[in-house]
Amino acid sequence: MRLVLLGPPGAGKGTQARMLEKSTGAPQVASGDLLRAAVRNRSALGVEAKRYMDKGALVPDELVLKLIEQRLAQPDAAGGFILDGFPRTVAQAETLGAMLDEARRLEKVIAISVPDEEIVKRISGRRTCKNCGAMYHLIYDPPRNHNLCNNCNGELYQRDDDAEDTVRMRLEVYAAATRPLLDYYGRAGVLSEVDGIGRPEEIQRRILNALGPIAAPASKDKPA
Ligand code: AP5
Repeated sequence: MRLVLLGPPGAGKGTQARMLEKSTGAPQVASGDLLRAAVRNRSALGVEAKRYMDKGALVPDELVLKLIEQRLAQPDAAGGFILDGFPRTVAQAETLGAMLDEARRLEKVIAISVPDEEIVKRISGRRTCKNCGAMYHLIYDPPRNHNLCNNCNGELYQRDDDAEDTVRMRLEVYAAATRPLLDYYGRAGVLSEVDGIGRPEEIQRRILNALGPIAAPASKDKPA
């Protein structure tokens, strides 16, 4: 399955991508996670990217594209991928199109729609495990032990860019730079829009319905 998940910050792209990864075997490729890993490792790219991320602005294309190109070249992405948070501009979408040869072209783009008021609630309650990356919400999906991950007991933290002002900036950036992708992929005939309000499992069902047969798990025992 070769899929892009589009949507505003906090729409649930990461939550849905992880569920799809489990059911289909296609790896989640999240540009935000790749950038945050570069920031944690204090690489030159990470130091440069952090300046933009902290403000809620987009990281320059050349930095993001380098990370995505390297990630898509990994063996686990050869049979398919779930792009989460990339592309975010028409220029990135055009470069992605050029990066993927005919045999790997995108099959579907799912846009998850959620109103702004709900986004602010979701982002302000989000907590992430420092150790394994598992995600929680203080109200909608709270951890069993305060501030500790259910899976690995790691400490939960709030992302630096989840402060209210930065979230508002991220929403503005989404409207100006990323929403035009709805038209772009609509014209290409690969777009489906999915209502992002409801329990994560309900939204996953809507996404699977929109995906149809391309969401079938990749076979692990292909004939030689
Ligand atoms: P990125 O990490 O991609 O952030 P984002 O797009 O703003 O999306 P989020 O991760 O905030 O939200 P999400 O949609 O994944 O929602 P989630 O599932 O976590 O990007 C961060 C920054 O990196 C950008 O601002 C930019 O600077 C830079 N960047 C990244 N990609 C770039 C690119 N391509 N080009 C340039 N710059 C780039 O859910 C949110 C919360 O809601 C969680 O707590 C979750 O538990 C909860 N939740 C999820 N679903 C539901 C539900 N159905 N009901 C109730 N709660 C729910």
